[in-house]
Amino acid sequence: MKLLSLALALAAPSQAYIRFGCATLSVQRLDPVVEPGHVPSAHLHQIVGGNAFNATMSGDVGAKATCTTCSFSEDFSNYWTAVMYFKHRNGSYKRVPQYPNSLLGSLTGGMTIYYLQQDFNSNGNTKITAFKPGFRMTVGSPTTTAGKMPGLRYTCLQNINTRGAETNEFPKSACPAGIMAIHHFPSCWDGTNLDSPNHQDHMYDTVKGAFVNAGACPSSHPVRMPQLAFETMWNTTMFNDKSMWPTDGSQPFVWSFDDSKGYGTHGDYMFGWKGDSLQKAMDSTSLVSNNLKTQSVAEANKCAIKNTVNENIDGCEMRLALL
Ligand SMILES: *[C@@H]1O[C@H](CO)[C@@H](O)[C@H](O)[C@H]1NC(C)=O
Ligand SMILES: *[C@@H]1O[C@H](CO)[C@@H](O)[C@H](O)[C@H]1NC(C)=O
Ligand SMILES: *[C@@H]1O[C@H](CO)[C@@H](O)[C@H](O)[C@H]1NC(C)=O
Repeated sequence: MKLLSLALALAAPSQAYIRFGCATLSVQRLDPVVEPGHVPSAHLHQIVGGNAFNATMSGDVGAKATCTTCSFSEDFSNYWTAVMYFKHRNGSYKRVPQYPNSLLGSLTGGMTIYYLQQDFNSNGNTKITAFKPGFRMTVGSPTTTAGKMPGLRYTCLQNINTRGAETNEFPKSACPAGIMAIHHFPSCWDGTNLDSPNHQDHMYDTVKGAFVNAGACPSSHPVRMPQLAFETMWNTTMFNDKSMWPTDGSQPFVWSFDDSKGYGTHGDYMFGWKGDSLQKAMDSTSLVSNNLKTQSVAEANKCAIKNTVNENIDGCEMRLALL
């Protein structure tokens, strides 16, 4: 018994996750997962990752892209969420700027991406199977009207390093350093389908909130995948003057699909790591970031794509669902 626990302890990695920044690739109304081929898609997204991103992208993204905004240079995946707006008293909207995670240097906007094995410190002594070329999924849904999913949360930033104190809806009062939106994806795969009609049924969600130990995978979805999570930092500070807020005391921020509660928050993922680079990282018992190839902040910031929608996204006077 003593020997067995020693063996398990040795197999447990010291760092069971990778965390990295990806600069903004594009902010456009495109959504190749939910609305492939629609130019524009229903609402605006902020997108990070590889430059193979387009309205109809498919197949082995990691083999098609030639640059990425992520600091791991073999990660040509795409990650995206809706965009936050401030709604003025007169009904017009202004886009909220993003800023990078303070831990990760001076990337332009974008997001922080996590791939955890089981949790921060352990792979659960389970094989973690990387996503396959062509794999895609979403978490959350713009039509959700109740904040029931523990992995979809907001943090009211007291300073740029605040963590914890998560809520399932937009913070109700002004946040001194902005709002962090958090998206945790499900990590149990059915082992067969790269996608499903609602982009969710091929996965099973054992997320219990925050970065805690994912629950066991059920027999319907037995394959343990990395636990993917996004953090997006929205700099709301220029809108914190209470004289600009609604007179009824409600909070003024909305997602680009005109959701002022925040329950419809959602994230999209299109796998695109080159070759077996992600699998190799997941097979490592010490997931220190430097087993993966990196690039400089300047190189990550330089990767971009053409805007194919071309519209004013910074502000608008009409209903946001049009943006
Ligand atoms: C979009 O990407 C796909 C490959 O994923 C490619 O076949 C297609 O030509 C691209 N479309 C445009 C407009 O670039
Ligand atoms: C609404 O108010 C904002 C802030 O004062 C202003 O910038 C914008 O032009 C106004 N829009 C209209 C339609 O009056
Ligand atoms: C947030 O926005 C304010 C006002 O525009 C700016 O002064 C500040 O530097 C920004 N904060 C970060 C962390 O980018």
